[in-house]
Amino acid sequence: MATSPNKPASLPEHVAIIMDGNGRWAKGKGLPRLAGHRQGAKSVRNAIEHARKLGIHFLTLYAFSTENWDRPEREVSGLMKLLEEYLRGETSNLVKNGIRLKVIGDVERLPSGLRNLLLHTIDVTARCTGMTLVLALSYGGRGEIVKAAVNLANRCVAGELTPQDIDEGVFESALFTCDIPDPDLLIRTSNEFRISNFLLWQLAYAELVFTEVCWPDFDASEFDRCLEEFASRERRFGRTSEQCLTKEA
Ligand code: FPP
Repeated sequence: MATSPNKPASLPEHVAIIMDGNGRWAKGKGLPRLAGHRQGAKSVRNAIEHARKLGIHFLTLYAFSTENWDRPEREVSGLMKLLEEYLRGETSNLVKNGIRLKVIGDVERLPSGLRNLLLHTIDVTARCTGMTLVLALSYGGRGEIVKAAVNLANRCVAGELTPQDIDEGVFESALFTCDIPDPDLLIRTSNEFRISNFLLWQLAYAELVFTEVCWPDFDASEFDRCLEEFASRERRFGRTSEQCLTKEA
C-alpha cells in the first residue's frame, strides 16, 4: 500500500528500523558478539514499548537478513535461540499490549522450533489492534521482488491475469507487505549509511534517518530524536513545496 501525499508529517504511521551495531557494541566492551545481540533484544523490547505508547501503528524491525545466513554458524544459531527466547518471553506481553505480530521473509528457512513459535505468536496476536510489529526474518528485498514477479507470472500462465493487468497496485499485492502501508520513516543505527537489501520497493518515499548510536544503546530518547528529525522534513512525494503547502491535488 503506497503512502498518500500531504499527510501531516508529525508522527509516522510506519517506522522501519535497521538494527545495526550489535557486534561493534560488544567488541567495544570486550564481549562476544552474541552479548551485543542479547543487549539488542532488550532494545527491541524498549523500542516496541515506546512505539506503542506514542501511537505508531506499524513498526518493522530488520532482525535477520537473507545475507545473515552467511555469518559463522555459532552466531546464526545464537541469534535463532535469542529469537526463540524473545518469543517465549514476550508473547503474553504482546497480547496484553494489543500488539499484532507479522513476519516477512523466507520463513521456511528458519529452524522449525522458531517457525512454530512464530506461527503461535502470529495466531494469538491476530486480533490485536494496538500496533502491528513486523519482524523481517530471513528477509531480502530483492528476493521478495523476485518472488512477487514469479507469483504474478504463474498467475498469468494460469490465466488468472494478463501482463496488461499488472500495475504497481497489483505488484504490491504480491509482496509480503501487501496488507501494510509503506514505511514513512527508516532509521538505521550505528553510523552506517546503507539500505542493505531492506524493503527495496516499500522504502521508495520513506524519510531516512541515520544515527551513530549502536542498536544496544538505542533508547526512548534516541527514538524521540529520530522522530523529531522526521517531523522536521517536508515530504513532497515528487510535488513542489508550494503544492504541498496549499494541499493542491
Ligand atoms: C546487526 O548488527 C544486527 C543483527 C544482524 C541482528 C539483530 C538482532 C537483534 C537486535 C536481537 C534479536 C532480535 C529480536 C527481534 C528479539 P551487527 O551484528 O551486524 O553489528 P556490527 O555491524 O557491529 O557487527
